[in-house]
Parts: sequence; C-alpha cells; structure tokens
Amino acid sequence: MSTPQDTPPMGRHHAPESPTAAGPRAGNGTGTALVRLINAGKRYGAVIALQDITMEVSAGEVTCVLGDNGAGKSTLIKIIAGLHQPSSGVYEVDGEPVSFNSPREALDHGIATVYQDLAVVPLMPVWRNFFLGNEIKKGPRIDIPAMKTMCKDELLAMGIDLRDVDQPIGTLSGGERQCVAISRAVHFGAKVLILDEPTAALGVKQSGVVLKYIIQARERGLGVVFITHNPHHAYPVGDRFLLLNRGTSIGYFEKSQITRDELTGLMAGGAELEQLSHELEGAGGAAAEIGAVLGEEVAELGIADRPAPAAAPATESDAR
Ligand SMILES: Nc1ncnc2c1ncn2[C@@H]1O[C@H](COP(=O)(O)OP(=O)(O)OP(=O)(O)O)[C@@H](O)[C@H]1O
Ligand SMILES: [Mg+2]
Repeated sequence: MSTPQDTPPMGRHHAPESPTAAGPRAGNGTGTALVRLINAGKRYGAVIALQDITMEVSAGEVTCVLGDNGAGKSTLIKIIAGLHQPSSGVYEVDGEPVSFNSPREALDHGIATVYQDLAVVPLMPVWRNFFLGNEIKKGPRIDIPAMKTMCKDELLAMGIDLRDVDQPIGTLSGGERQCVAISRAVHFGAKVLILDEPTAALGVKQSGVVLKYIIQARERGLGVVFITHNPHHAYPVGDRFLLLNRGTSIGYFEKSQITRDELTGLMAGGAELEQLSHELEGAGGAAAEIGAVLGEEVAELGIADRPAPAAAPATESDAR
C-alpha cells in the first residue's frame, strides 16, 4: 500500500509521462493506450465542466472514473464517445490525436458506449435489439434464424444463458439488459467499452452480475472505462482509478498505489466530512452524537488530512 506521502500531491494528475512509464501493460502488449486524454478540459460557455484531465485505458484494462454528482463524469465520457470535443488538451486514440465529430466516428474507431438509459426498444425481442441497425441479410430479407442463433451464442460466450432470445428485452432485469448491451458491443468489434454508471440503479446481486461482465470484457482484451460513484464497485474490477471532484482530478492511481479504504475516503472527501462532523457537534443534541460518530469514522479511515481540491484559476486561453 502506498502512504499518502508516496502518492503525488492532490489536485495534480498522476498519469504516467509516457506510455511505458507506468510499467508493462496487460493486453495489447504494444504499450500504446487505446484511448488517452492529456490535460483535457471542457467548457460549456462560462461553466468549466472539466479541467486538466489526464487519463488512459489500454487493452485488457479497466479504468474507473469516480466522482459525485456534477463531478464531470458524463462530460468526460461524452468527450471519449465523440459526442463533444474537448475545449482544451489532446484526445488520442491508438497514440494518434483525434477530433471526432460524432459518436459514429468514435464507433468506427472501435469506441462503444453503453449509456445508463440503454437505447433499447422494450417490446422488441432480445435478438432484435441485439442486431438493431446491424441486421444480417439473406438476399433482400433479414435472416432471422441466423440472428437468433448468433445472439444466443454471443450471450452464452459471455456466460449469459437466456431461456429464450425471443422474449421482449423489456422483460429482462436492468442488470441483464446491461449485460446484453455489453455483449452486443463486444460482438460488433468494440475495442473500448465505455459504461456510464451501469450499476447505479441495480441491487447488490445484479451489480455483481454486471461487474462480472466487465471482467469478462477485460479478459477478452477490451479496454473498459467504467463510470461509477461507488468505490466498492470500482475497486474489485479496476486497474486504474481517476477521481473527479467539481471537474478537476483529485487523483489518478494505479491499483497498487491505493487501497479500497483510501479510495473510499477520497470519494467521501475526508476534509469536508471532518468539517461536517465539527458543525454537527457544535449544533448539540442528537446532531452532536451523529457528528461525533462521523468524526470517529473519518479518523479511522485516516482521510481527514486530504485537502479538498482547489479550483484552478480559469484562463481565457482555455476556451476554444
Ligand atoms: N450542456 C451543458 N451546459 C452547461 N453546463 C453543463 C452541461 N453539461 C454539464 N454541465 C455542467 O458540468 C458539470 C459536470 O456535469 P456532468 O454531467 O459531467 O457531471 P456528472 O459527474 O456526470 O454528474 P452526475 O453524477 O450527476 O451524472 C455540472 O456542473 C453540470 O451542471
Ligand atoms: Mg452523469
């Protein structure tokens, strides 16, 4: 485990200077990241949604992006998915700078995104949703038996054993639907899979199932960007962790550099929690008791000395 002293100072980025600086990579073996952001930022008019973000994902790796509401997670994936262009910084795919004008262009580079609200047609059978927009043709007609068989086989290859691929996708659980979307992206040749909070609306068991498929995708050599606000979901599957707070990075770690407790502490915002515990204690009565418990927990986790991230001054040159 690394102590807080070992880790670079908060509020800065800890990305390797070069693709090889962080040691050997699993997966594609070339050492080139599939996707990399270098000092990327995004402004919406006067709003700085993202600032100075450096991160990468390589084949056979899972990079987790953690942050609270409004931290900039969706903005980050919109950049990677080709929906938005960064206002500053560089976006590289396979080591080459890119500038995507649409998600279609990103998809053509093998970057697939599974959004939380999954664009599925609930009343259509599973196999139909699986091939939506990519139907197999036999002459002028679509080849239904071939698609059913292929869908079933592909789902089985990911360990998803559906009784009947003819059932409407709306009858599947949220977790199963996420899994179908993941295997669909894998089937259609995604190299990078972006998952926007796939476990946010799921219970413990279903979340576990989705986490299992994230690992499956990684084992099949994909690079996965997994967005979540839950460190307990991120830690078991992640190889790298980018923590966002109000649009800035408060840490970028390889798994060997951080423990689950430290990750949880950083997510919780130790300094802010400590301040809250003091305020509650000052309020007296029942609030004081809660404050005392909270203070003890912060002390136990050893996260109180983590400073809240300082907002870097905005410069006009950031805007584009
Ligand atoms: N199109 C937009 N125009 C203006 N501001 C925006 C726009 N999109 C996002 N923002 C702002 O950028 C910041 C980051 O938003 P973002 O949606 O990326 O956060 P998030 O981490 O995905 O949050 P959540 O967990 O709530 O989904 C927020 O303050 C948000 O209000
Ligand atoms: Mg979001």
